Amino acid sequence: MNHLDLSTTKLAYVDSLEEYASPKSDVTLLLVHGFPLSHKMWLPVVEQLQGECRMIVPDLRGYGESLPSQQPASLADYADDLADLTESISLSGPLVYVGFSMGGYIAWEFLKRTPGKLAGLALVDTRAGNDTEAARQTRHKMADKIGEWGTSRVAEIMRPNLFSEGTEEAIVEETVKVIKATDPATIAASQRAMAARPDSTSLLSKITIPTQVIVGEADAISTAEEMQSIAEAIPGAEFSSIPNVGHMTPVENPSAVSEALLALVGRIERG
Ligand code: MLT
Repeated sequence: MNHLDLSTTKLAYVDSLEEYASPKSDVTLLLVHGFPLSHKMWLPVVEQLQGECRMIVPDLRGYGESLPSQQPASLADYADDLADLTESISLSGPLVYVGFSMGGYIAWEFLKRTPGKLAGLALVDTRAGNDTEAARQTRHKMADKIGEWGTSRVAEIMRPNLFSEGTEEAIVEETVKVIKATDPATIAASQRAMAARPDSTSLLSKITIPTQVIVGEADAISTAEEMQSIAEAIPGAEFSSIPNVGHMTPVENPSAVSEALLALVGRIERG
């Protein structure tokens, strides 16, 4: 992995150009993972799209191999790290932000902070609204108790909501392994940051770049109905609902997600 030294973290990221130097398109996808995961959730998609376009796949601050020197105060801090990362990389063409779940919540902050920077957006199993009071309390409880609970309990709590019933056990176990390996302080910081996130619904009608909204039909966290209403609120957005998968669409059906992302890349190339 590559590393970028920031004052708040040493940010680790995969650059697919290192494996595949001459993809067909000059579009770069920035693939942003969810909670409490890592860049690894995107690797099945990277494998599929390697010959098509460049992909930058970071571990957010505190996740995977990104060491934090300071935890984020809000989701905007993660967006700032990503803005620094995209500034530090020399891009030869348009940049597209692909945000999965918490990575999508961060997309709203990235858009506010970097006007004009993105040529496209993909929202994958994510939400635009903020939390109910009950959801906020659940997040704070996990943040307060993580020291006592440990990450195995977090994996146990999350597992039933992440996958569809038919998902292969090996795929589920791979994700559970990543959750168990996540730094507890990072889990607490992200839960507090997500609990405090604002409602971003009013941003949707102002998005003017090509957008692809992708959801697993059986997603129990960001439902297909909710994601369809996000697609309807963004002018010109395309909606892909992927059958027989739950929340973890990029690992449950990487081919379908790659196909939808490739359709977005095609729309950007056609201008
Ligand atoms: C994620 O996958 O990033 C989380 O499920 C998001 C959340 O907790 O709202």
